Amino acid sequence: MSFTVAIDGPAAAGKGTIARAVAAEFGFAHLDTGLLYRAVGRRMLAGEDPVTAAQALRADDLGDPDALRTPEIARAASQVAVIPEVRAAMTDFQRAFAYRAGGAVLDGRDIGTVICPEAQVKLFVTASAEVRAERRLSELLAAGHETDYATVLADVKARDARDAGRATSPMVAAEDALTLDTTELSIPAAVARAFAEVAAKRG
Ligand code: CDP
Repeated sequence: MSFTVAIDGPAAAGKGTIARAVAAEFGFAHLDTGLLYRAVGRRMLAGEDPVTAAQALRADDLGDPDALRTPEIARAASQVAVIPEVRAAMTDFQRAFAYRAGGAVLDGRDIGTVICPEAQVKLFVTASAEVRAERRLSELLAAGHETDYATVLADVKARDARDAGRATSPMVAAEDALTLDTTELSIPAAVARAFAEVAAKRG
């Protein structure tokens, strides 16, 4: 039987950490859907047409996730993500993943609203832009990228505006989503809330 956990929200809010923890705790498969858009973004930066790239995406493109986690690719991802044909090309894959037997956790921007509106658990994980920029700065510095707080904050805000403002599948909390604001709530506390929500819905 399928059981889907949809986790949406803006960049660096803690979605990935919560998604990985839920997947490990309940034995669900996990898909970071941002990687799909990042992989298309990387192909666009290499000169490919984004729609062709999305239609031709293969497992190989996601083979080295860390190589996709650069600021340039994040920016390109949010540019290709506004193109309806790019999103459409990746919908079936995400839905098949969401409904696989044994349970699935997907994190992204439109999982609870568009990809899997029937998800049994929907979380919207958010935090202030400043707190998210601090977190993303630490991650990028730890991974060896050269950047600074002002640049990361500007990137986060530009991406928020593009993701929330686009016409197709904008980033928005589903009406029936539980919002976890990690500005004040620590990530471990947010993980605990997520576990409780999944346990309650699973029965
Ligand atoms: O890790 P971070 O939260 O910074 O970004 P991500 O989840 O890897 O997503 C990168 C970009 O892909 C986002 O800024 C969105 O524009 C796009 N995206 C999307 O449109 N829909 C999704 N389901 C996932 C990502």
